[in-house]
Amino acid sequence: MRFGTAAMAVAAIFTLGSSEVSAAELSIVSGSVGADIQELRTQLAEFEAETGHQVDIVEMPASTSDQFGQYRLWLAAGTDDIDIYRVDVIWAPQLANQFVDLRDAMADVIGDHFPSVIESQTVEGRLVAFPMYTDAPALFYRKDLLEKYGRNPPATWEELTETAKVIQDKERAAGSGQIYGFVFQGAPYEGLTCNGLEWVASSGGGQIVSPEGEITINNERAAQALERARGWVRDIAPAGVLAYKEEEARGVWQTGNAVFMRNWPYAYALSNGEDSPVKGKFEVTTLPAEPGSRSAPCLGGWNLAVSKYSKHKKEAIELVRFLSSRKAQKERALTYARLPTIPALYDDPDIAERQPIIAEWADVVEKAVPRPSAPTKRQYNEVSKEFWTAVNETLSGAASAETNLQTLEHRLRRLKRDGWR
Ligand code: GLC
Repeated sequence: MRFGTAAMAVAAIFTLGSSEVSAAELSIVSGSVGADIQELRTQLAEFEAETGHQVDIVEMPASTSDQFGQYRLWLAAGTDDIDIYRVDVIWAPQLANQFVDLRDAMADVIGDHFPSVIESQTVEGRLVAFPMYTDAPALFYRKDLLEKYGRNPPATWEELTETAKVIQDKERAAGSGQIYGFVFQGAPYEGLTCNGLEWVASSGGGQIVSPEGEITINNERAAQALERARGWVRDIAPAGVLAYKEEEARGVWQTGNAVFMRNWPYAYALSNGEDSPVKGKFEVTTLPAEPGSRSAPCLGGWNLAVSKYSKHKKEAIELVRFLSSRKAQKERALTYARLPTIPALYDDPDIAERQPIIAEWADVVEKAVPRPSAPTKRQYNEVSKEFWTAVNETLSGAASAETNLQTLEHRLRRLKRDGWR
């Protein structure tokens, strides 16, 4: 982590061409999944060249839950060492009071973005973060292997389970000892809340907490969905999946050792990289759903917020404007398959050619299922933690899904007491 240099951020005056402009040293904090940091660094270099400002990246761990904990500590301490925070779509209600309202500063460009994303970052009328990209997961599958065994991409979880098992067993018998049927994110962190919610919501089990704030997760359909997932562990998924986040799953998949993977679109770009063993051998489709239910990809995405404690708010807002711009979003879509928050980019021919997943995903993004961060307000992280714990303990077989969901309901009721705060 390069926090030391950020702590020394100072403003300086320098001369650019004939006019004198004020240049600032800014620091932005960001997570580090896949090529996150490389992607940011490239764009910051452009920003620095254009404005004369200098931007330091403070690198965070890959787990979004660990990042959240760190952000909360810094913000609670009122640190002025960080000017811009790259924030997960679910955090707005919890961190709102510590961020600058961007409504006026961004007024001219707000209308370019998906209204739902803007709404997700609006808390009590204040726009607390501005969109960088949106996210909705895919089911990645090995086209070559499905063709080899005459299988179609699965539409239901049962089909996925069966196809994964057949191909895994046959490939192993043919000498691919390392191959697994399915990898996903089973570690106890925010990513498992996404996976778990997808299994439940696509199986008729509904939400964790409804948009009206009702605790709805303790039901039979939800329990069945989690039991089905438990059955994958050590059968079509490695035992280690209980500790997998995005990158561990991608590691297994990208070395050619998984038939299916649940992951976000960043993995599409990286899996098609020059040195990727699965380059050209895979396709993506929407996540399965049970008959009678619809696919329920979890809505993700990252936004940019300016700290209330920043000493360089004006320059920090300039950077937010730069990184959220159509130009920057297009560049990230082209190179890293980041899903734009600007609807017009879904029809962009250059993007469609380089990253076909994006045009295909317009519909998926629109129908993606939000996590209950709006109804549970500042308690979302606690709610999510209780949910991912219940799911992880089901996957590990510590107790049945039914028991774990009962305990979960009990804990959520205690958190809610007289209403979500
Ligand atoms: C992705 C999503 C984010 C989600 C995280 C979970 O980064 O964009 O919204 O919380 O994955 O691991």
